[in-house]
Amino acid sequence: MIVLITGAARGLGRALTERCLQQGDTVLACVRAPSAARNLQDLLQTHPDRLYIYSIDVGDDASVANAASLIATQVPKIDCLVNNAGILKGASERIHNLDMRNIRESLETNTMGPISMVAYLLPLILRSERPMILNISSEAGSISTVGNHSYGYHISKCALNMFSQILANDLKDHGVAVLAVHPGRMRTDMGLPDFPDSPEDVAQDLYEMMQARMDTLPQIRFVDRFGTPMPL
Ligand SMILES: NC(=O)c1ccc[n+]([C@@H]2O[C@H](COP(=O)([O-])OP(=O)(O)OC[C@H]3O[C@@H](n4cnc5c(N)ncnc54)[C@H](OP(=O)(O)O)[C@@H]3O)[C@@H](O)[C@H]2O)c1
Repeated sequence: MIVLITGAARGLGRALTERCLQQGDTVLACVRAPSAARNLQDLLQTHPDRLYIYSIDVGDDASVANAASLIATQVPKIDCLVNNAGILKGASERIHNLDMRNIRESLETNTMGPISMVAYLLPLILRSERPMILNISSEAGSISTVGNHSYGYHISKCALNMFSQILANDLKDHGVAVLAVHPGRMRTDMGLPDFPDSPEDVAQDLYEMMQARMDTLPQIRFVDRFGTPMPL
């Protein structure tokens, strides 16, 4: 498989990059600052023929467009696009102390980022025989379980779920498997130290999902990492 992963320098993106390389796949690892991504540079030493590193800020259309043009000259197709990059800002903010910048930035990164990635990379995705798009969402995108804070994160992930559903419908005739996935509660920079899931275990489950490609896809495309439907 040729797998593109955004936010590949840390957390889940890094764990998934390592998992795919271990499995013999080619990884297009997209990060904001390639030279600062030491772990990826180390992986490049051991996998020089199967790891490509690109500079992408998913919230910047021009950055995505430039990288997409470069990628198209270097690989024939993309089998799986993993929109993993995400931010959590203003988590404790309520309506009385809202910082609008946090909401805008959350929407740019968590919602517009995946939309932009799909829009610019679609020609390469459609060249795959078994194309898949995994949008890493969150349980925070569920309306039925939401609380009273973290406006930017909840709204942006809810919108990502909606994007995933529309996209799945839109690309149905092209055979593209599209899913929005809640990965679990992970011990990463974004998560908390006492969260139950390691990014490595989650990467393994997501890898299995990518391989199986869930031939019978659920009607509602918002699932956990085992493919079980999430509450809307
Ligand atoms: N951790 C959890 O418990 C949890 C729960 C549910 C869902 N999720 C979701 O899982 C995904 C991965 O989260 P994580 O826990 O691995 O987070 P993380 O450790 O904070 O890593 C986030 C990654 O996203 C990248 N990123 C942020 N903004 C970006 C931008 N504008 N352009 C490109 N890359 C950008 C970061 O790059 P830099 O290194 O350049 O900053 C970093 O590599 C996210 O979508 C998150 O919302 C996480």
